[in-house]
Amino acid sequence: MATNVDAVADRFADRFADRFAKVRARTERLAAPLSAEDQVVQSMPDTSPTKWHRAHTTWFFAEFVLRADGTSGRVWDRPEYRFLYNSYYEAVGARHPRPQRGLVTRPSVAEVANYRNHVDKEMLELMTGGLDTAIAAVVELGTHHEEQHQELLLMDIKHVLSMNPAVGPAYADRPHAPAVDPGPSNWVDFAGGLADIGVDHGADGFSIADGAIGEYNGKFMSGQQVLRGGCVFTPPGHTRSTYRNFFHPHTRWHASGVRLATDRQ
Ligand SMILES: [Fe+2]
Repeated sequence: MATNVDAVADRFADRFADRFAKVRARTERLAAPLSAEDQVVQSMPDTSPTKWHRAHTTWFFAEFVLRADGTSGRVWDRPEYRFLYNSYYEAVGARHPRPQRGLVTRPSVAEVANYRNHVDKEMLELMTGGLDTAIAAVVELGTHHEEQHQELLLMDIKHVLSMNPAVGPAYADRPHAPAVDPGPSNWVDFAGGLADIGVDHGADGFSIADGAIGEYNGKFMSGQQVLRGGCVFTPPGHTRSTYRNFFHPHTRWHASGVRLATDRQ
């Protein structure tokens, strides 16, 4: 007989399973209008192929929730996936260089779709059994991470498609960007000095990379403004009043810069 604790755990897991399923499905909807050829191209080093975004967001759950190690024999747990789809996570091993993501024709788009399906199935099975709070936090982080990549996927494919002026846009219905006031910027005081970044208890979270040393950030990134708020590519609910991304003002290809005009009725 289920106890109250079980009931709470079930609802808790249901909430995460629901969010997980919706976020994962949205990525697939964004990729659906694109052909396999569209999804492989990397039009410049700053962009990543759609196929890579679909695989990398899947790798996050495989690596940090399902604990892939490349040796279990499960169809989605392959060493080449860990190498190709890791982005910047030094602590979990070697990774493929970002500027060469567009040169990866294998695994195919169909295999990446299969990778997503297998990981989704295992993730939903895991959540059906209830979720440990520490795992739940990683699952939630993974969904926000995937939403960030949904925005990047659209920015990147816009640049890819812009390389071919002979063919029209793949996304005809373009909603207006939500009007968002990210609030005022303020200065924040820091004590300065050396700081460790990450966690050192070896549990879930972002571990300190092997051989890491403290970093002295002499200028505190003074005067470097991060992009806040949202843009036309931002997934619903993902708009942030704080950090969104770090694109510099001169990199206008991503189309998420400062809005200097208002819509007139
Ligand atoms: Fe990422």
